[in-house]
Amino acid sequence: MAEILGLGLTHSPSFIKPDEEKDYSVFRSLRNPNLPEELRNPSNWPEPMRIEFGEDEGLSSAIKARERIVNGFRKLREELDAFNPDFVVIWGDDQYENFKEDIIPPFCVMAYDEMECQPFNTGDGGTRLNVWNEPGDTTFKYQGNRTAARALVRGLIEEGIDMSYAYKPLHEQGGLGHAILNTLLYLDYDRKGWDYPVVPFLVNCYGSRVVRNRGGAVQYEEEFDPPGPSPKRCMEVGAAVARVLKDSPYRVALIASSSWSHAFLTDKHHRFYPDVDSDRARFEELKDSDFAAWSRISIDQIEDAGQQELLNWMCIAGAMQELDYKTEVVDYVESYIFNSNKCVAMFKP
Ligand SMILES: [Fe+2]
Repeated sequence: MAEILGLGLTHSPSFIKPDEEKDYSVFRSLRNPNLPEELRNPSNWPEPMRIEFGEDEGLSSAIKARERIVNGFRKLREELDAFNPDFVVIWGDDQYENFKEDIIPPFCVMAYDEMECQPFNTGDGGTRLNVWNEPGDTTFKYQGNRTAARALVRGLIEEGIDMSYAYKPLHEQGGLGHAILNTLLYLDYDRKGWDYPVVPFLVNCYGSRVVRNRGGAVQYEEEFDPPGPSPKRCMEVGAAVARVLKDSPYRVALIASSSWSHAFLTDKHHRFYPDVDSDRARFEELKDSDFAAWSRISIDQIEDAGQQELLNWMCIAGAMQELDYKTEVVDYVESYIFNSNKCVAMFKP
């Protein structure tokens, strides 16, 4: 009989490098030549931002944030192991990695047989510095589940969702972009190994900025791309996923992966710090399992708040609303200087 577990976490790259490297987004933002002069002086920052930066340029805040979030990763992993799924479905954004100018699907189910990635390979024989001290040629192998992914897509089409799918990568040759790969690295933070087959479910979160900004922080002076799928549509897709899996023979963990508002997407704050207030409003709704509130949010509101990646969480919100599950918050960590606010949560009957 089908069983479903819901999990939500972040795939923020900030947990890959050691905190002592101080590769914090605030320093990248300070290098932005378009940043208003007054914001270069911490005395003009919002007070919580100044406090977070502290006397050590954010180091102790970074260590504390990591401790809380990694603790959250461990709790999710414990829950996942106790649940012992047949496979996991991960909603994550494709940030101009697998999908580029030649096609941008709103959603795509990756029905791969297996994935092989070297996340710390710099491509020129070097190693990307990482907290695990793993060399650049460290290879992570993940099984897919093509049969289940095909059945999921078939079920979605029968539910009236015209779903795209892929059997092999397009541009992301290792098979997995940062959203899915970081999630897997973090859910195995203690390197116990990972045996659960993975079905990546990519979402075009970056919408009007996906090609224009190459999915990143750099702003190119080009026309905006069309928007990504609306919160309402993401929730409808999530709900349909839940209905299809409920009628399947599988035990499945549904995982939404992303940080919430991103500094580099929040134009109204000069792309310097995220929209903490909007995230707090979404957090209150999530905490109360008021998923319906999310379906009333427009894509313009999402883009104004720099919450593009929250669309991944909209998918799981739709699924949990359909299943009538409740939110169990593991932690919620706000940050002005590490690019984004981060939530870790579980969803259960
Ligand atoms: Fe992302």
